[in-house]
Amino acid sequence: MLTRLTQLEEEARSAIDSARDMQDLQAVRVRFLGKKGEITALLRSMGQLPPEQRPEFGRRANGLRDLLEQLLGEKEKELKEKEAADRWERERIDVTLPGYPVPLGRKHPLTLVTEDIKEIFTGLGFQVARGPELESDYYNFEALNMPPEHPARDMQDSFYVAPQFLLRTHTSPVQIRTMELLHPRLPVRIIAPGKVYRRDDDATHSPMFHQVEGLAVDRGITLADLKGTLLLFAREMFGPEKRIRLRPSFFPFTEPSAEVDISCINCDGEGCRVCGFTGWLEILGAGMVHPRVLQVCGYDPEDVTGFAFGMGVERIAMLKYGVNDLRLFFSNDLRFLKQFR
Ligand code: DAH
Repeated sequence: MLTRLTQLEEEARSAIDSARDMQDLQAVRVRFLGKKGEITALLRSMGQLPPEQRPEFGRRANGLRDLLEQLLGEKEKELKEKEAADRWERERIDVTLPGYPVPLGRKHPLTLVTEDIKEIFTGLGFQVARGPELESDYYNFEALNMPPEHPARDMQDSFYVAPQFLLRTHTSPVQIRTMELLHPRLPVRIIAPGKVYRRDDDATHSPMFHQVEGLAVDRGITLADLKGTLLLFAREMFGPEKRIRLRPSFFPFTEPSAEVDISCINCDGEGCRVCGFTGWLEILGAGMVHPRVLQVCGYDPEDVTGFAFGMGVERIAMLKYGVNDLRLFFSNDLRFLKQFR
């Protein structure tokens, strides 16, 4: 039985040696030290030995058990370290690899142009006002001197949502709302950017588009103030050599009224395809605020005067960026939108 112990030590050492992972090692432990293991079995059969040999055998068997425990422990430590190192190798992250690209958005060209317009006018002391897109007939038409049967209503074919309510067809109702709010204070000096809606849809008209309204009311305001303000705007927006001209026109809420042109951004007045060989491009409508409009807002037209203007943001953007189809602004095509900064 003592020889058997020596044999077992040999076998156990070689089994531990060749264990390749924790599973192997656990099997070795069970095989030699488990409840039904070889050493346990040998200790149980100690009774077969003559009594005088038992202490010696017991000591040796226990010594072997301790030795195996120690060898197993050492091997276990070695295997765990190796596993950790392998795993590190397998799963290591290369922090020098390039990251995943995060696409960066940018501002819509209409936002850029609206911001430019706001900057120019706030620089002149105008404040930014807003009004609702769902408007009453009163603010959209009536208070602007367009009574129910007025033919000018036909120019702005509208989306009604109820008999007296519609999607605003222009930003001009903000003139009324602002004057009602500020009256009797002076001066009134605002621009009102925002969405407007009309039943129109082609290469130069969209059922939803953007306008910026302007309004200045004070004592002693004249057409010269309007012209000077718009000339400065045209030069800031399109270049310092731009000229403007006012052509007589009609709007129910201004008197006199004008269409305002800038010298062609392409030919500078020579005449070309862009301006239809006229040398001029129409950019907005304007005029002196009609006395009746001042009156319904509480101002005395004998005491104060004002000018107003309204421009289409899409139109300004098309001219500024040379875009020939307005629908491009609303089709969400990144190839188009990416070109603006
Ligand atoms: N509201 C007009 C339109 O949408 C534009 C306009 C013209 C606004 C003259 C004005 C103005 O304030 O004075 O066609």
